[in-house]
Amino acid sequence: MAFITSNLSPRIGTRIETDHATLLSGEKSAGIRELLELRGVLIFPVINFTDEEQMQFSRTLGALVDQGEKGLYKVTLDAKITPTAEYLRGTVLWHFDGFSDDVPARASILTARKTSPIGGQTEFANTYAAYDDLPEERKQALSKLRVVHTMAATQRDVFHNAPAEMQQRWASFPPKVQPLVWTHRSGRKSLLLGSSADWIEGMDKAEGRALLDELLAWTTQPKFVYRHEWQVGDMVIWDNCGTMHRVEAYPSDSGRMMHRTTLVGEEPIA
Ligand code: OGA
Ligand code: MN
Repeated sequence: MAFITSNLSPRIGTRIETDHATLLSGEKSAGIRELLELRGVLIFPVINFTDEEQMQFSRTLGALVDQGEKGLYKVTLDAKITPTAEYLRGTVLWHFDGFSDDVPARASILTARKTSPIGGQTEFANTYAAYDDLPEERKQALSKLRVVHTMAATQRDVFHNAPAEMQQRWASFPPKVQPLVWTHRSGRKSLLLGSSADWIEGMDKAEGRALLDELLAWTTQPKFVYRHEWQVGDMVIWDNCGTMHRVEAYPSDSGRMMHRTTLVGEEPIA
């Protein structure tokens, strides 16, 4: 069956046009996984999968994280539908998913069920490409740095003047120390940044903060970024180990609804 791929920009993003049967059969799963690691994000325009199809297709790529309803998690800011809606407000900041996991999710698969009339477009940045383009001496200087990731850091810029009980809830998530440069089993390296990156171990807090801000700005330059403008029925997969993502702010009562499946992590951060 037809399986047509086209790159959306030189450094990130590939569009795949194909049909349900090809995707559900698993015949392309090895190729899709390879392409995902190489291109960071894959777009399947208006593929219009049902929940069952999304889960079946996702399982051709790996094991599903047990979340939401039988592995299908509803990404919405409506707390009546999704109890974790409050944390999801933090998705407007650049991040990777599961900073506190020893083995972060391999990839996430998002389908658009209802878009927002305002905002709600999603951007992805290639953290392999951002590392590769650093000058050699900068790579050396960064190679030994370790970053402390916290829940508070993912939330405090979204909830200004957070009440004490909210801050206590954030503090109940243990901080996680991760290398700034992730050396993958493949030998490739990527920058591990995002909103959870709070300070750099052993470095003056303000100095570390300035470095993290500078590297985030570097990594999210237009040449490393793909912005997806959603249409209902689109499916997007991102490599959670080689990209960051963020969603443009959208109203919590917009009705925006995305259905997500997540592939279990396969490689510890090292
Ligand atoms: C997520 C996420 C972005 C979006 O589900 O992890 O960050 O566009 N979603 O809703
Ligand atoms: Mn996310």
